[in-house]
Amino acid sequence: MNDIRAIVFDLYGTLYDVHSVAALCEAFYPGRGLDVSKLWRQKQLEYTWLRSLMGQYVNFERATEDALIYTCRNLGIELDDARREALCEAYLRLSPFTEVPQALRELRARGFTLAILSNGSNYSIESVVRHSGLAGEFQHLISVEDAQIFKPSSRAYELAESRLELGRTAILFVSSNGWDITGAAYHGFPTCWVNRGGATFEEMGQRPANTISGLDKLPGLLGRLSNLTVLVI
Ligand code: LAC
Repeated sequence: MNDIRAIVFDLYGTLYDVHSVAALCEAFYPGRGLDVSKLWRQKQLEYTWLRSLMGQYVNFERATEDALIYTCRNLGIELDDARREALCEAYLRLSPFTEVPQALRELRARGFTLAILSNGSNYSIESVVRHSGLAGEFQHLISVEDAQIFKPSSRAYELAESRLELGRTAILFVSSNGWDITGAAYHGFPTCWVNRGGATFEEMGQRPANTISGLDKLPGLLGRLSNLTVLVI
């Protein structure tokens, strides 16, 4: 961990709260908003994994829209064009978690290169980051669109080291998704799992190298690790 030069973040659920989509779901479907947003998010992820396995890549927006259509059919609720467009648009205007802006500023001040590696398309990532006013915090915005396969494929993670021109051990990968941390760990990145809600980590042969309860804890963690001297007797 002493070799860390860059920090690469997952976007949805790690830097940005998809809950703002849930609020709109509740506005459109009173009393069912949480059911809609949870099934929608789960299907969105499932479709990215299945399409990677099938070799049938479509961008994240299309997978997100397909997942929304499935969700409304499954729950037996009406999805007209206006609602479909409004809900999918909401993914372009997500709010960052409250601790994120300050944490990014601190990490930049310490000289770390900051990047995003997301399943979102280049257009979506740029839209979300620009809308939240955080574009200036990142030196690189990296979409798996450039590999035509979703995380946790190793081909997706390879985009980060090639774009940053760094070895894997110099990149700390940060995500709130246990499957994403697992894929990044198998790929060879040092990892940091952001576990805001006390979730259980996945059982797929990996454990996160570090776990924090929010990004506000990341500067302190990196400070402790860089000062850590290992006395080998
Ligand atoms: C992303 C999703 C998977 O940002 O969280 O890649």
